[in-house]
Amino acid sequence: MSTRVGVLGATGAVGQRLIQLLAPHPEFEIATLTASENSAGKPYREAAKWRVNTPIPDAVADITVVDTDPSAMPNDVDLLFSSLPSNVGARVEPTFVEEGYIVSSNSSNGRMDDDIPLTIPEVNPDHLGLIEVQRDERGWDGALVKNPNCSTITMVPTLAALDEFGLERVHVATLQAVSGAGYSGVTSMEIIDNVLPHIGGEAPKMETESRKLLGEFDGAAVTHHDAEVSASTNRVPTLDGHLENVWADLTDSPTTEEVAVAMEAFPSIDLHSSPEQLIVVFDDPARPQPRMDRMLGGGMSVSAGGFRETPHGVQYNCLAHNTIRGAAGASVLNGELLSREGYL
Ligand SMILES: NC(=O)c1ccc[n+]([C@@H]2O[C@H](COP(=O)([O-])OP(=O)(O)OC[C@H]3O[C@@H](n4cnc5c(N)ncnc54)[C@H](OP(=O)(O)O)[C@@H]3O)[C@@H](O)[C@H]2O)c1
Repeated sequence: MSTRVGVLGATGAVGQRLIQLLAPHPEFEIATLTASENSAGKPYREAAKWRVNTPIPDAVADITVVDTDPSAMPNDVDLLFSSLPSNVGARVEPTFVEEGYIVSSNSSNGRMDDDIPLTIPEVNPDHLGLIEVQRDERGWDGALVKNPNCSTITMVPTLAALDEFGLERVHVATLQAVSGAGYSGVTSMEIIDNVLPHIGGEAPKMETESRKLLGEFDGAAVTHHDAEVSASTNRVPTLDGHLENVWADLTDSPTTEEVAVAMEAFPSIDLHSSPEQLIVVFDDPARPQPRMDRMLGGGMSVSAGGFRETPHGVQYNCLAHNTIRGAAGASVLNGELLSREGYL
């Protein structure tokens, strides 16, 4: 039997991707959609300016969008995917969890809280155990689980693969697609023929979230990884797919071939949305590229290439689809993990 799910913030860039991924999903069935009061009361096809590259699923188009409030939920919904602006998420996500809902959220609020799991299922599935800590400390019946920021999730699987060589320090510069800013985020006048060398709040997210994701969970708390991470974030005029230049300083001195083998061998996880090959490695130093490689593994693979030895470790480029692996797909995958681990 499939699990009935809802999408909070269903009309936005990530919300539309969630619907695209959830409509054909074998384990989940979309039961309810929420958005702001501007959209509530309208059929989804009217409320959402549909921009995803497949038609609005028939089963969703005529659903009436409701307010983002627990009282508007049908009784039989077990799991909610949240793609609300973080200030809205901070206010309303706890109200759903207090009512017993399990929320798998994209929004940045709470990601760094000690008792909120920040999870990439292939990297740190055990951190889901923080749910018990969260329930004890907050008295919640439900649970709140986060996936990381889209630029963080692009590099962290590659860093996890490098950890066997002693990860000491990371420098990263990003080239991030416009869809990462949401539908009303960056105007054409700002971005065409241009690069924006600052994305508010993005660098600190990469610097902190990556250390939590790579940290150790001992059953009570996560000890963050001690590698130093410093980031410079840039918005570029691509539609989808964040490309990142990474410098990783390592204790050991692996060859570029050993680095490539470690990344290629880093295991995926046996969940519906996880790709067979988590990290796709290119020999061609001019790959990965956003337009060519963002849909690898259905948009859920990370790709890497351009490996060069440096005096302190290795330099390389990595790429992931920011609204699939970096947002909606990441949330759906966390939902699948929650289901497999018996939280629904
Ligand atoms: N885009 C990405 O690549 C990406 C990646 C990772 C994480 N995220 C995070 O995911 C979240 C959503 O991002 P997005 O890019 O999808 O944003 P977006 O395109 O602006 O969509 C925002 C959604 O939230 C709804 N909403 C806005 N204000 C609301 C309110 N007061 N009450 C209830 N619903 C409200 C909107 O509904 P209306 O249509 O009715 O206004 C819309 O459905 C953000 O927290 C973002 O940081 C995004």
